Amino acid sequence: MQLRRPKITALGCYTPPGVLTNADLEKMVATNNQWILERTGIAERHIATPDIATSDLAVEAARATLAGRGIDASELDAILVCTVTPDMQFPATACLVQHRIGATRAWGFDLVAACAGFLYGLSTGAHLVAAGTHRKVLVVGADTMSRIIDYTDRSTCILFGDGAGAMLIEPAEDGEDAGFIDFLGEIDGAGGNYLKMPAGGSRLPASNETVANRLHYVKQDGQQVFKYAVKKITELCTALLERNGLKAADVSLMVPHQANRRIIEATAERLGLPIERVIINIDRYGNTTAGTIPLATRDAIAQGRLQRGDLVLFAAVGAGYTAGACLWRWAF
Ligand code: UT7
Repeated sequence: MQLRRPKITALGCYTPPGVLTNADLEKMVATNNQWILERTGIAERHIATPDIATSDLAVEAARATLAGRGIDASELDAILVCTVTPDMQFPATACLVQHRIGATRAWGFDLVAACAGFLYGLSTGAHLVAAGTHRKVLVVGADTMSRIIDYTDRSTCILFGDGAGAMLIEPAEDGEDAGFIDFLGEIDGAGGNYLKMPAGGSRLPASNETVANRLHYVKQDGQQVFKYAVKKITELCTALLERNGLKAADVSLMVPHQANRRIIEATAERLGLPIERVIINIDRYGNTTAGTIPLATRDAIAQGRLQRGDLVLFAAVGAGYTAGACLWRWAF
């Protein structure tokens, strides 16, 4: 076993075609376009039709990633699917994706870390490759949030959308200055009550009562999560840069989780990062949970804002609380 530096070699995304605009939401709950835009930065989000589940989104993102790299699914060593909206409690969505794409040699698992899920998957995948035991790890972030959102609750239903994205991790070439630099994660279960889906697990199994009380939907104390997100993302990014001898000025692009435009702007300001070096695409997708980081990375590449050799800083906070930040030297 020989330690290898992992790098990201391909990326693919998928969002379902249906779009839910702020004007549509105005007809469903007591809200208005101006409030949503000013408080969140969201204009519209993609919503899957009832026949589509998370594995369907994940399969499309996986196929796009493999096509981008020009490889067959049978070459994959592992598939990690980061999601809080699996098709079923079990089997794992990773197994459904593995079978559908024909990843005949892969093992894999689902990873539950909500909005920080993709970053945790990326770090886990990077370590599998770094260990020298895996050469091709596919990390998928996929969520069909519309299935667990209460469209009578205006404080949450305006925020979320459906979408998926994936990245392929492989070993860098010998001497190549590209790839994984560092990851810093932190969980804090004391914040668990501020963002959760209370029912459907072993604590509150599905019953007529849980359904009647709408407990299979996302419940959130938005202000608590907002404050924690700004504080924790700033803290983790600062510590991560510091321990790698880097400054905000060295960061070519920050790709933050897209939960609220104001969270992103506040953290960028605290980090001393000009907003031009931060990608924001929440206006078109809302918060797709594990999908936001790959979707935002794809848009940064499409806009010519992320190129080979760039130092990219990913950061996210999610339900749990889960939090993480990681640094990569972009490889393609
Ligand atoms: O990915 C991690 C997960 N989530 C997050 O990071 C989300 C973090 N939190 C947030 O993004 C924000 O807290 C929200 C967007 C959820 C809410 O924004 P806010 O600025 O914190 O608003 P608020 O909860 O303080 O509510 C302000 C007012 C309230 O009315 P009163 O009590 O002042 O009369 C709410 O009832 O806005 C009202 N309100 C709305 N009004 C129109 C709440 N939701 C809506 C709405 N439309 N959709």
